[in-house]
Amino acid sequence: MSVAEDAPKWVLVVMGVSGSGKTTVGAMLAGRLHWHFADADDFHSPENVAKMHSGIPLTDADRLPWLKAIAAQIGQWQASGEQGVVTCSALKRRYREIIMGGHSGIRLIYLKGTKELIARRLAARHGHFMPANLLASQFEALEEPAPEEHAITVDVGKPPSALVDEIVAALTLPPLRGGSLPLPQAGEGAEHKRGG
Ligand SMILES: Nc1ncnc2c1ncn2[C@@H]1O[C@H](COP(=O)(O)OP(=O)(O)OP(=O)(O)O)[C@@H](O)[C@H]1O
Ligand SMILES: [Mg+2]
Repeated sequence: MSVAEDAPKWVLVVMGVSGSGKTTVGAMLAGRLHWHFADADDFHSPENVAKMHSGIPLTDADRLPWLKAIAAQIGQWQASGEQGVVTCSALKRRYREIIMGGHSGIRLIYLKGTKELIARRLAARHGHFMPANLLASQFEALEEPAPEEHAITVDVGKPPSALVDEIVAALTLPPLRGGSLPLPQAGEGAEHKRGG
């Protein structure tokens, strides 16, 4: 299968509340596609990490440099013609606009789950700085993607590998063969919308 030289270079932003599986699913997705992976946690300042350790919710002022750093990562990938998957809770529309605004070729992936299921997963998770008691504030802050954001929404009740299958299928990427790098074909660009 030929791939057009000028095929769009996708960047995928994986969003959802803490514990929805952004790191787990995003890393597996990047691995499946052989794309770059970046985790939003790595873009936080030490001050933000300390706040979160202490169970103090971040303010929008705290978040701004973090969101801009994520946007810069996306811009860097796109400028060098690379593809990547980046996680970010991106709970509010205005955060997503900072991250994604002005960029084309980005798809939003929304990991959707109930508070009960995600609370159970957070309670079982070790070695992570997000205390489970911040989950309630995450759900309060959450603005689910609007239809015009064209997010790919998946139900996190399924195992990570099934979610990755579903996301890859929704991207209309060709199946991987022999580890080749999949690219959307010309005409299947950022404007592509999921049928149905
Ligand atoms: N689809 C899934 N099925 C079962 N367990 C899952 C699934 N996705 C993630 N998990 C588990 O749930 C926990 C939370 O996942 P993960 O750390 O990837 O969430 P996150 O969205 O990155 O959270 P944070 O925003 O705090 O970084 C982990 O222990 C992970 O192994
Ligand atoms: Mg994470």
